[in-house]
Amino acid sequence: EAGHELVVVANRLPVDSRTLPDGATEWVTSPGGLVTAMESVMRTVDSGAWVGWAGGTGEAPSPFVADGMHLYPVPLAGHEVERYYEGFSNATLWPLYHDVIVDPEFHRTWWDDYQRVNRRFARAAAEVAAPGGIVWVHDYQLQLVPAMIRETRPDARIGFFNHIPFPPVELFSQLPKRNQILRGLLGADVLGFQREGDTLNFVAAVRKLLGYHTDGQTITVPGLGTAPSREVQARTFPISIDSQSVSDLTEDPDIQERARQLRADMGDPAKIVLGVDRLDYTKGIRHRLKAWGELLADGAIDPRDAVMIQVATPSRERVDAYRQLRDEVELTVGRINGDHAPIGRPAISYQHRSFDRRDMTALYMAADVVLVTALRDGMNLVAKEYVASRPDEQGVLVLSEFAGAADELRAALRVNPHDIDELKSSILRALAMGEDEQREAMTSLRRQVMDHDVQAWAHAFLDELESVGRDEITTR
Ligand code: G6P
Repeated sequence: EAGHELVVVANRLPVDSRTLPDGATEWVTSPGGLVTAMESVMRTVDSGAWVGWAGGTGEAPSPFVADGMHLYPVPLAGHEVERYYEGFSNATLWPLYHDVIVDPEFHRTWWDDYQRVNRRFARAAAEVAAPGGIVWVHDYQLQLVPAMIRETRPDARIGFFNHIPFPPVELFSQLPKRNQILRGLLGADVLGFQREGDTLNFVAAVRKLLGYHTDGQTITVPGLGTAPSREVQARTFPISIDSQSVSDLTEDPDIQERARQLRADMGDPAKIVLGVDRLDYTKGIRHRLKAWGELLADGAIDPRDAVMIQVATPSRERVDAYRQLRDEVELTVGRINGDHAPIGRPAISYQHRSFDRRDMTALYMAADVVLVTALRDGMNLVAKEYVASRPDEQGVLVLSEFAGAADELRAALRVNPHDIDELKSSILRALAMGEDEQREAMTSLRRQVMDHDVQAWAHAFLDELESVGRDEITTR
């Protein structure tokens, strides 16, 4: 085995195994932006490898090949799912990195499992990487992996990309084990972040908490004992989607028909206002529902003229904050429908399940307005998918300034989702926009999204990683 030239390491594999009632295994696409983006990158790579969890507990499936990608499943025990995944990753790091929208929980047993599982991922990656190959580690669940890989595979070029925000040092400092996390990340040669602000936050944390020398976005990591020091680059690479392939789907007659059908079902010519999110408290779903409910109660919107469709993909359902959010969202949707929906038609059509790419495209094509009201979001690829789905240059994107996408998608209707009055007036403004005004904004948004796709993103990251010469190691 010569090993793989490019190894992606992420908590999840691009597919998730589900056991059907008859005991058979079914593979479904994993949720979230990371998989959306990386799957299309890996489809263009020859014999790349992906190391990740296949979902479930206990023994992992054997390695297998899917769409030319070599998948290496990493097993998780039941208690590791609880403490590493649901615990430290999603009840400690996730809320802390997203501006403490809910309180992060700290438990020492969670940290033990986080370390152990990171070690397992690092070993699996080190085993399959070719000599001098690239190992590209992804996201907050695996922040210790870069340094762990370096211990046994100093020949590898190690990259790390953080798909979620990196918090300001004042918040990051709350994290017990914060210095271990920073040292874990600094095992990489290149660290990528979504927004300039995230990169600056990371560099500031390294300077303040570890006292390392930084020069712009270059960090000098001192060597242990007589070992030479190393340079690590922290850079901004806003992630994207496979824009052309999304845009191409809109030409599929079957998808066009589904979009027409959707509009008819919703009472054409009623306007469709669409939200698409994992059911996560970072997405501002409650704020959006509040605004919509008030607009109906005020009489500013007649439920016969406009309907909201909220797709809420099930997510992390065993974590308390997610369970609570689901209850609140479902209670609110029920109340709004009870108060305002005409008989036989919803005021909010709430869809608690995931849709495939084709159905999603039909939804985007049918939507007059898409609401992205995240309270904090690394990037938000829904915003970019909507834009790529509108070669007709119609439709309005309402976009939170707290989503990474707001840095690039300047022509969107920008909102502060905490300001419910502003959110309400932005929704009304979006609904009232004429074709010309829509076209002007959408043309500019499309230029951005079509020119900066996920392939360009991956190339930029990998170019940076390849430019880090092994001979550039410096001594201080
Ligand atoms: C976000 C994260 C990913 C994660 C995804 C889905 O996109 O950045 O790392 O995989 O959400 O969440 P889940 O916990 O189901 O993997």
